[in-house]
Parts: sequence; C-alpha cells; structure tokens
Amino acid sequence: MARIALLTSGGDAPGMNPAIRAVVTAAAGAGAEVVGVRRGFRGLHEKDAAALAPAAVEGITNFGGTVLRSSRFAEMKEPEAVSRCAENLKALGAEALIVVGGEGTVQGSLALSKAGARVVHVPSTIDNDVSGTDISLGVDTCLNTILRLVDSIRDTASSMERPIVIEVMGRLTGYLAIMAAVGSGARAAILPERPFPWDRLRESVSRGGQFPIIVCAEGAGSARQVVDQLKDMFPGSVPRVSVLGYIQRGGTPSFFDRLLGARLGEAAVEAALGGVGGRMIAWRSGNCIPVPLEEVAGRRRQVSPEVFETAKKMGILFE
Ligand code: F6P
Repeated sequence: MARIALLTSGGDAPGMNPAIRAVVTAAAGAGAEVVGVRRGFRGLHEKDAAALAPAAVEGITNFGGTVLRSSRFAEMKEPEAVSRCAENLKALGAEALIVVGGEGTVQGSLALSKAGARVVHVPSTIDNDVSGTDISLGVDTCLNTILRLVDSIRDTASSMERPIVIEVMGRLTGYLAIMAAVGSGARAAILPERPFPWDRLRESVSRGGQFPIIVCAEGAGSARQVVDQLKDMFPGSVPRVSVLGYIQRGGTPSFFDRLLGARLGEAAVEAALGGVGGRMIAWRSGNCIPVPLEEVAGRRRQVSPEVFETAKKMGILFE
C-alpha cells in the first residue's frame, strides 16, 4: 500500500486541521495510508510519527491550530538536519511528504526536496506572505477575527473619546494591517512597506470626525511610538494601544479556510501519489495549481498595488 507522510510546520493557522482531514481521507480514498509526523520538521528529525487513520481525523475540521502540533525548526537550514529528515522519511516507508506551512517552511520543503525527497507543500500562514498563491490557509479566519476585535475596540474609542492604535501581526508584511484597515474602515494604516506621513494624518484628524482607530502592522515598528505621536495631535486625550497578539492566530476556521484546506489537501495528495514532487499547491483564481518550489521559496508575497490604491481612495493611506 502506498504511504505518504504529513506534517504541519511553523506558526499554526486555522485551516491546518481541515487540510489534515482532507489529506487523510483523500489518501484513503486512493488506497494509500498516511503517517502523521508530530511537531513539524523537528518531529521528522526525531522520527516522531504514527499512522493517521481516517477515523482519527473525523471531527477535527472545526478546530483551530493543528492536531499534529507544530514547531519552528531553524536547523532545517543545515544540510545535516535535512539529510536526517530525508533518511527518516525513507525509514517511515513514505514515498512522499506533504508539508503544511508558511513562508519559512517553504524553504525547508525545498531543501528536503533537493535532498531527494518527494515533497508537496500546502501554503498556510495568517501573514499571507507565501509567494505564488493568492491566499494561504488561515488568512481569512484571521482577518475575520481581527475585524471582530477592531469593531469591539471602536466602541471604547468612541465612547471614551480616545484614539486607539491596534497592532496586528503579519511579520514583515503589512497585508493583515492594510486589509483590516480597509475592512474595518479605520482612519489609517501604518505599514512596513511605506513611510508614514504624520503631517497628513494630522490634517485628516483636524478635519474632525470620530476619534480614530489606527491599524499598525507589527513589522512597521512599535504601536506604542505611534501613541506618543497621537498625544501631540489630541492634546488632553488619552490615546491607547491594543496589541492583538495570538488571539489572531487561533479559533474556529472560517468556511473559506475549511474549503481551502479541503481543496489544497486533496490536490496535494493527487500530486504526491502521482509522483509529482518539488511543488507547492497554489490557490490561483479558485484553482489548485502545482508550482515549482524554486519559484516560490525565499520570495515574499507583496501586497498588490490595487489594494494600496483602494486604501488611498478610502483615505486610509496617504501619499
Ligand atoms: O507567521 C505567523 C506569525 O503569527 C507572525 O504574524 C508573527 O510575527 C509570528 O508568527 C510570531 O511567531 P511565534 O509564533 O514564533 O511567536
């Protein structure tokens, strides 16, 4: 019987569990079995794995996080660790490995693939910074969570007449910040991609309106520094900062993330059992497209110019 291994790596994301379920059930449907590797590449390095039967993944679709657990394993940058993972994969009797993970993990997938393993990658990260795919698992749920939180925080901003800076995750990209600012109708977004023109915010603030919500990407610098600037702009006011943190990463996957997990997981199995390795299953205009890992590894996805344009027209980004 054909056997494929499966692991989740890097930051957990809502949608990983639906992808796990899809991989296991699609493999079973094709007459193959799945061995689940625990704690990402670290677990593969330590040969920490066990058979994953369809019955074991029933009822996990609505759970956030990953039942396989995850880790950040920087050792995948070292050739010895990569060879050990390739050997362990063979020892587990797996002819292919499906890796579910983000931008850093793609580089581990490529390294392992170059070491001779048949690797198929499924993009998964709340940051949406994996190149080559329109969207990764977890982004949709994360943005819905952020919007719920921003809406709640706005109640306090308007009731207490306070400007509030909300810091969101996203690592080096401002994708979550700009999308959350557009989606919540925030006054401004502060992004790592652009220098922030404080004088333009001052102008916007002086035109009146509600006390502003400003969304700040973690990669743009500290939201607390932004608050200091706001103290000048609103003399006598009490600007506050709210760092959303890990709340953004957890929770029940949205419908879209469940669908994406199912589609990408099933397509990954088809590639893996079809003998196609060294690929990432990208989501492009509603289709699952296998793209070479070389084309996507080490390249960060950029926020599209159209999104910046929309934000400018909404008065959220200033030029
Ligand atoms: O990549 C997902 C992410 O949540 C980023 O947004 C954030 O910068 C990082 O992970 C936090 O990393 P860790 O889980 O190691 O604290």
